[in-house]
Amino acid sequence: MNRALAGRRIVVSAGPTYEDLDPVRFLGNRSSGKMGFALAEAAARRGAQVVLVAGPVHLPTPDGVARIDVRSAAQLREAVLGALPADAYIGAAAVADWTPRAVSPHKLKKMPGAQILTLELVRTPDTLAEVAAHPQRPRVVVGFAAETHDLERYARGKLAEKRLDLIAANRVGVAGSGFEADDNTLIVFSRDGAMHTLGPAGKREVAEALLDLMALFLDADERG
Ligand code: PMT
Repeated sequence: MNRALAGRRIVVSAGPTYEDLDPVRFLGNRSSGKMGFALAEAAARRGAQVVLVAGPVHLPTPDGVARIDVRSAAQLREAVLGALPADAYIGAAAVADWTPRAVSPHKLKKMPGAQILTLELVRTPDTLAEVAAHPQRPRVVVGFAAETHDLERYARGKLAEKRLDLIAANRVGVAGSGFEADDNTLIVFSRDGAMHTLGPAGKREVAEALLDLMALFLDADERG
């Protein structure tokens, strides 16, 4: 058994966030949580102490993992920051970038004759960037990027902008990759400029490969 992460504290976020419009409707991202749960499960198998912050998904909690269920981007932020300090943070959640300025306490009704509804949205907090800039910054911060095009350009942009150690980019909108699928291919860019392709393979296998890379960064950081 690979015990490379024994004794480390790893925080993983997974799944979507739902931003409520009213008591029956929400804005959300497509994510099953499979990628993040596979990472949490694999890290726990390697002996890590894992906190899994999960958006609304229908997946069982992996053995040995402490799970915190959240719904919105704001709740995800609170749970992730509350789980620090940690050795590593892996942001696999598909966090909504926008949330309604106000949540209606009543079901929004269709106005007679109205064909267009205009919603006012505000930006959600960027938890990943906040973790990377936090006074208790984990030694390794890993982001994800889900892209339909220009994957390398956008992923490298997020790596630099959010001051990450690694970013795992996956293509969405193609079969056998990205959200909801059982398989994935991750193109991982690191702060030292390297690029690694993990997969195509099942999300469990891809998760193991990403943890191998993350463990190298943890070891390098420890050696100074
Ligand atoms: O859950 P699955 O069905 O298995 O699918 C997995 C996945 C495709 C959802 C996952 O692998 C993935 O790519 N997750 C990130 C998707 C995404 O929304 O990326 P982004 O480019 O919007 O965000 C970039 C990074 O910033 C992510 O690490 C995200 O967690 C983080 N973020 C984004 C916005 C925000 N307000 N706060 C954040 O922390």
